[in-house]
Amino acid sequence: MPGTTASLLVIFGASGDLAQRMLLPSLYGLQHAGLLPERLRILGTARSELDDTAFRANVADAVRKQVSAPDLDEASLAALLDRMAHQAADSGNADSMRVLGERIAALRTGDVLYHLSTAPRFYGPICDALGALGLAGEGTRVMLEKPIGHDLASARAINDGVARVFDEDRVFRVDHYLGKEGVQNLIALRFGNAMFEPLWNARHIQQVQITVAETVGVEGRGDYYDTSGAMRDMLQNHLLQLLCLTAMEPPARFEPTAVRNEKIKVLRSMRRIGRAEVQAETVSGQYTSGAVGGRVVPGYTEELGRDSRTETFVAIRAHIDNWRWSGVPFYLRTGKRMPRRSTEIHLQFRSVPHSIFDPSARISPNALTIRLQPEERIELRLMSKTPGLDRAGLRLSQVALDLDMHEEFAAASRRPAYERLYLDALEGNGTLFVRRDETEAAWDWVDAVLDGWRANDITPRPYPAGTWGPASAVAMIERHGHSWRE
Ligand code: BG6
Repeated sequence: MPGTTASLLVIFGASGDLAQRMLLPSLYGLQHAGLLPERLRILGTARSELDDTAFRANVADAVRKQVSAPDLDEASLAALLDRMAHQAADSGNADSMRVLGERIAALRTGDVLYHLSTAPRFYGPICDALGALGLAGEGTRVMLEKPIGHDLASARAINDGVARVFDEDRVFRVDHYLGKEGVQNLIALRFGNAMFEPLWNARHIQQVQITVAETVGVEGRGDYYDTSGAMRDMLQNHLLQLLCLTAMEPPARFEPTAVRNEKIKVLRSMRRIGRAEVQAETVSGQYTSGAVGGRVVPGYTEELGRDSRTETFVAIRAHIDNWRWSGVPFYLRTGKRMPRRSTEIHLQFRSVPHSIFDPSARISPNALTIRLQPEERIELRLMSKTPGLDRAGLRLSQVALDLDMHEEFAAASRRPAYERLYLDALEGNGTLFVRRDETEAAWDWVDAVLDGWRANDITPRPYPAGTWGPASAVAMIERHGHSWRE
């Protein structure tokens, strides 16, 4: 098992976009909150030849870009910079890796966390080099960014490369959704309350919808995104993780093995959607020009500057073939350039078995919606009497019990996902990280859909930016008597 709290964090890809936007600002946040281990040193590494001073200036810039001036605490920033050093290295160049190794050895006073935030094709070579330098033994662990591959075979190759050097219990695969407050609150809601569990199954739930809608386009990441698409970029990881947490059996404890053992069972129970099923059970789309939030935006291929068959939207009707969920559709949907940002899990309960009211009184089924983004709220829809004398029989209306987490916890600040993930990885707690078998099971399921699309020559249907995807996504769900929540 991973040992004690790391006292050295080595970030590979420290000049990259993720580091600038998320990682360095999160380290600042932890520093400011007094949560970084006291002795922690941070070594940035990238191909660029930066000395410590230039790197610190770069870190300060990155932090200032994300934390506005009135909120920035100069003393905390200075304390963070004090911990920082930089060493240029190129994983393909043995000499530079040797120099990096010497620097790591000089800074090391205890456990080390390596954070690989480079293109995944470098994971194997970096791990090999660390292994060869004797810097990957006990007391070291490695944190990996997505994407872990673009299909099962490439994911296995990456995982094998890492596993040659690091045992699985020292590997921390990031899915940043697991670091989000709202996602952890889903776990709290399910397993901190007794009232949901008896209802949380196919006898009482009719359908589940998991939506991750974004208003952004591909944001200058076209070259990466075009080789990926919504299926690989979002569904294989974030949506399937949300599905696992929604559908899993109660783990015995909130600890890495117990939680991940339950998640993998869900992934392995997912019904395969292959060549014969993709037409009916999946829809892919690609945005064309349109308007989002009152602003005219170009289409995907215009942003990209070339033609493309990559999907920016996907909707799937999935099933989990086990006792708990038999027959319950899980509608998964994610897309870019949707009308509004919305990440939510929506569970619709079954209708009452018999209505005692006048046939004119429509009884809508109960629904529980767990909204994760942009705001965190939990909403339970119930039927209630509409006030009045109702001489022709009771009139009913649907009302919402609505819990706004921001209001409820107004004093508590919402911490960015990477603060949580860094703290856990530094301390060696893998509960909110993805285990190898989960990544590979998710790829296995996703690969079958991608293969079905290829075999049936399915190309994404166009949808105007600012809409909820192609009309066929609506048709897919309506064929089963359901409708998307909007
Ligand atoms: C990333 C994807 O993993 O998640 C991006 O690569 C996407 O394409 C992002 O925009 C969404 O994350 P969040 O935290 O903004 O919901």
